[in-house]
Amino acid sequence: MPAQLIDGLLVAAGIKREVQADVAGLLARGLRPPHLRVLLIGSHPASKAYVTSKVRACAEVGITSDTEILPDTISEKSLKARIAELNADDEVDGILVQLPLPDHLTPMSVIESIDHRKDVDGFHPMNVGRLALNMPGFRSCTPAGIQELFKHYMIPTKAKHAVVVGASNIVGTPMALMLSREHDSYNGKATTTICHKYTKDLTAHTIAADILIVAAGQPNLITAPMVKEGVVVVDVGMNRVADHTSEKGYKLVGDVDFEGVSQKASWITPVPGGVGPMTVAMLMKNTLLSAKKAVYPD
Ligand code: GUN
Repeated sequence: MPAQLIDGLLVAAGIKREVQADVAGLLARGLRPPHLRVLLIGSHPASKAYVTSKVRACAEVGITSDTEILPDTISEKSLKARIAELNADDEVDGILVQLPLPDHLTPMSVIESIDHRKDVDGFHPMNVGRLALNMPGFRSCTPAGIQELFKHYMIPTKAKHAVVVGASNIVGTPMALMLSREHDSYNGKATTTICHKYTKDLTAHTIAADILIVAAGQPNLITAPMVKEGVVVVDVGMNRVADHTSEKGYKLVGDVDFEGVSQKASWITPVPGGVGPMTVAMLMKNTLLSAKKAVYPD
């Protein structure tokens, strides 16, 4: 039986409506709206598109935002000096440095220079460490959004075997931490395997998965023979492949062969319209939480 679709657009719209209502509540109390500052370094085409969708979402929910476009020749010192100014600016609740950065910059060093209390991406070592230790902090938006999808569709993770393909700092690693945590009231409590490019026999792991999260950045990495009947599949891949029939000259595809795998899965996320909108919705939620000082009280 073909899989049921996990509709990220629908769930993201619900979260954005909640954020919008909360922002309206702040304004009604005479407070300023939350403010997100985005730093875009250089002109990476996909980054520009991601930033546009984040800025648009801010406007939809009543969060103000500014995008600072900085030259791709900027030195690490100058970038960090600008971040230090934003750290000290009480009018700025969230600081987002769009990745990837040009090669001469060290991403973790730049991220670490952001005040962790304004790190609405949830990438700062303080926030990742606090996730690992089950302490309050900003959670990385993509895995937090996937947790929201499981909650919405009441897909249990407890005692399941979750396999995460991809061990990146921003998706795979925090996702595995969230899934394996013992203390979460609904999600978590899964037995978790992380696979990565050095994994010898990927299929040996993916075929055993009750829940398969794929964030490897490789089109068609996961095909039907690699999964078992009834698996829940979350495709984080967002790959541009050439498509001369489309106006843009490319189309977006995930890491999973949707046609084949959806014949075996019980649930599956589409690309686009699955995880992508959730990432943006969770960024809105984190920015609101920062403005409300709900994660790090003064
Ligand atoms: N590049 C790809 N995804 C993300 C994200 O969620 N946040 C930032 N800052 N950069 C990204």
